[in-house]
Amino acid sequence: MNGEKILNLIKKARSHRSFKNFQVPFEDLMKIIEGAHYSSSGANKQFLKFFLVNNKDVCTQLFKDVIWASQITWKPTLDEAPGAYIIILTDNPSKLPLNFIYTDCGIALQNMKLIATELGYGVNFMEPIKKDNILKTLGISSLYTPLFIVPIGIPTDEIILTESQNNDMKYSRIELKDHNYQHFVPKLKLEDIILGKK
Ligand SMILES: Cc1cc2nc3c(=O)[nH]c(=O)nc-3n(C[C@H](O)[C@H](O)[C@H](O)COP(=O)(O)O)c2cc1C
Repeated sequence: MNGEKILNLIKKARSHRSFKNFQVPFEDLMKIIEGAHYSSSGANKQFLKFFLVNNKDVCTQLFKDVIWASQITWKPTLDEAPGAYIIILTDNPSKLPLNFIYTDCGIALQNMKLIATELGYGVNFMEPIKKDNILKTLGISSLYTPLFIVPIGIPTDEIILTESQNNDMKYSRIELKDHNYQHFVPKLKLEDIILGKK
């Protein structure tokens, strides 16, 4: 036991942006949600709520309500759209501070990503830029705030981690053939993120 198994899963669980035409069943979405269900929660308030979508028309609407790959000119087409989304929302009933909300959300996102990866899916974490559109698409009250959107599907992009050169963190992508891609993600060197040791 040296943590290698979980580290390998963390390395494998990357951010995907192109998918096969496949409707992810609700049964699998529920397995993914379990990762969020068992996540730690500030003051154990458990104020996050989840909305599951695999309806093709609703998926199409959500596809347009997020920004894909802001750092590059390539964007997925509707043929490459994911077969499901999980939307994380809150009505923050306890009026908790934002750092609690976003920490809970981050833990839930990563736990869901790890389970989805184990199930053979690829996911991403998308900022819900068009919040009003998203609430309208889901048909829910504006008492709720969308915190994050998780597209889920069978990925057609292979994510390759590289070592960042000269602190360049911009990701890049090449098409191999027929909507299959290699997507390169530079990570800083481990020693460069250690501020100190005492
Ligand atoms: C807080 C956060 C917000 C993100 N928002 C978006 C987004 O709106 N659109 C997108 O395509 N990717 C988004 N991503 C994915 C990042 O671009 C991705 O994590 C980064 O390029 C590193 O790739 P990796 O996750 O495979 O290591 C987001 C990731 C995080 C953690």
